[in-house]
Amino acid sequence: MELFSLKGKTVAITGASSGFGHHFAGVLASSGASLILGARRSDKIRDRVNEINDSGGKALGVALDVRDPDSCESFLNTAQNEYGSVDVLINNAGVEAGAKTYAMIEEEDWDYVFDTNLKSVWRLSKMYTQMNVTSEKKEGNIVNIASITAYRTIKGQFPYAVSKAALVKATEIMALESAKFGIRVNALAPGYILTDVSRLLLEGERADTFVKGIPMRRYGQFDDLNGPLLMLCSDASKYMTGSTVVVDGGHLCAEL
Ligand SMILES: NC(=O)c1ccc[n+]([C@@H]2O[C@H](COP(=O)([O-])OP(=O)(O)OC[C@H]3O[C@@H](n4cnc5c(N)ncnc54)[C@H](OP(=O)(O)O)[C@@H]3O)[C@@H](O)[C@H]2O)c1
Repeated sequence: MELFSLKGKTVAITGASSGFGHHFAGVLASSGASLILGARRSDKIRDRVNEINDSGGKALGVALDVRDPDSCESFLNTAQNEYGSVDVLINNAGVEAGAKTYAMIEEEDWDYVFDTNLKSVWRLSKMYTQMNVTSEKKEGNIVNIASITAYRTIKGQFPYAVSKAALVKATEIMALESAKFGIRVNALAPGYILTDVSRLLLEGERADTFVKGIPMRRYGQFDDLNGPLLMLCSDASKYMTGSTVVVDGGHLCAEL
């Protein structure tokens, strides 16, 4: 367990008000990390921070809109001022545009999904890199939350899947360019797990057929991500950079 420990480390998580980010906060706090949690719904962030602090962990929350540069800057600055440095940045905030094909989406759908899922990752990662390079720390770790839709997809996920495919590529390029700063960049690509993002599909009329297409015959639970998440955030992955770890019950290697 020492290998996966986050004792003494600080982790910043975007999109921590629900779903994965909310769950990740608990997993990382249990492994000893001090957290900074951000999202737009500050009431939910406040509740999560209180839960973590009440159960013996250490967390603080900041209202964050990843589409707003000033908000991103203030998120990272607060973390640095409070904790001295940020060991791990988890770019988790993400949205989709509903079940729309490329012919159905509008300009604002494209901008909303791409600004949140991709541009914000670049923006926060750039700010994080500049912050770490100029600090005494001079190393870092970025974990991007991608998706198996980066590799294979279904109809009606046009801007979302394209943004996640681009995020996998962004992960590789950022890894290449940030290695000289001692910053690692990897991605976690979950398969389908029931959250607000996937509810439309997993609770819709195609749900049964969909699950039959997963070799392990079930969609994922939050806990299925714990091990891979801890590996990427800790020194257990100290020689990994530019990798995307797929956690999907075999969905990507399903029979055609
Ligand atoms: N669920 C799945 O099956 C699945 C599979 C693969 C990958 N993913 C990815 O996992 C990540 C988390 O999604 P989820 O499934 O946990 O869905 P979720 O419950 O809807 O969580 C999305 C989070 O992103 C935050 N967010 C959205 N826009 C934001 C913005 N502009 N600024 C700051 N925070 C913002 C939301 O908080 P606020 O609304 O409070 O801002 C929320 O906390 C996403 O990147 C998603 O693409 C999900």
